[in-house]
Amino acid sequence: MQNIQSYHEAFIKHLDTFIEPKKPNTLYDPIYYIIQLGGKRLRPILTLMAAEIFDCDYNKALNAALSIEVFHNFSLVHDDIMDDAPLRRGKVTVHEKWDINTGILSGDAMLILAYQLFENYEPKTFQALAKLFSKTALEVCEGQQYDIDFETRDDVTISEYLKMIEYKTAVLVGAAMKMGAIVAEASEECQNAIYAFGKNLGIAFQLQDDYLDAFGDPKTFGKQVGGDIIENKKTYLYLKALEFSNSNDKKQLEHLYSINPSDSTEKIDTVKQFFISSGASDATKKEIENYTKKAFSVLDHINISEANKNALRTFGNDLMTRNV
Ligand code: IPE
Ligand code: IPE
Ligand code: MG
Ligand code: MG
Ligand code: MG
Repeated sequence: MQNIQSYHEAFIKHLDTFIEPKKPNTLYDPIYYIIQLGGKRLRPILTLMAAEIFDCDYNKALNAALSIEVFHNFSLVHDDIMDDAPLRRGKVTVHEKWDINTGILSGDAMLILAYQLFENYEPKTFQALAKLFSKTALEVCEGQQYDIDFETRDDVTISEYLKMIEYKTAVLVGAAMKMGAIVAEASEECQNAIYAFGKNLGIAFQLQDDYLDAFGDPKTFGKQVGGDIIENKKTYLYLKALEFSNSNDKKQLEHLYSINPSDSTEKIDTVKQFFISSGASDATKKEIENYTKKAFSVLDHINISEANKNALRTFGNDLMTRNV
């Protein structure tokens, strides 16, 4: 097993080979723009790690890792249109730099490019990767639709929220790891275990994303802080704040989530106060820890070395304490 930094470097090197100027520029420039903006590269690193954990040279998993990252970036371009987001990774979003139609079509092309990368594998591996990819991509669409549907619903439950984030975010983290295991020709049991690990880590990851969306530092977060509050997203923070509030506070919070003021500064400040004073913010942190632990408990039943388990635990703990 290499260290995280060397997986990151190997991945970036491979990513560079993917960037080749093609016409029309108006289709490809936005693709290369978003991909080269950076990001944590969490999913491809997990693909490479998973391949090595199951005794395979990580180089063999580079195209699967790239596919996952290209898909992830596709989902961000469309997500930013859907969430009306101005900022991504500290830079202006694709649909604001170009326009919405450009974001739609460049996103579509990225989805196809992601799938095309599986052509680098032999038929048996290709089929397994493609099958997992299709299932996962559809689930992401389902999760994204729930996310949007929930904006205008006032009866969303915690369990509906958890299902929504499992689909929009966590299944891709699980799939990223399972792809590494598929390339490594690991047993089905191992593939499923690493998928479960990734999925639970992915749920913790999205809870943390929601937390940072409200409480991240605007200087380093790279996205518009308070964006979820502006969009009336039914996050864990919001749902727990409702649950923990008295009827007066609950009414106020519900009211704030039914309006879309042109200047949202006051709405964001008030809502954040509610998140803190109700105890929702602490409850969210606790839940992030719970899902991270749930991921770690999967490791108890998986036949890999203790050193590899420790590497995965370190990765999970680092994610839990991230601020970007
Ligand atoms: C953002 O993902 C979208 C979510 C699922 C929360 P990341 O936080 O992994 O974004 P980058 O790739 O590091 O920018
Ligand atoms: C994104 O969820 C999930 C997908 C992109 C599929 P968010 O909408 O919370 O992601 P960010 O916060 O914009 O990165
Ligand atoms: Mg978004
Ligand atoms: Mg979204
Ligand atoms: Mg978010």
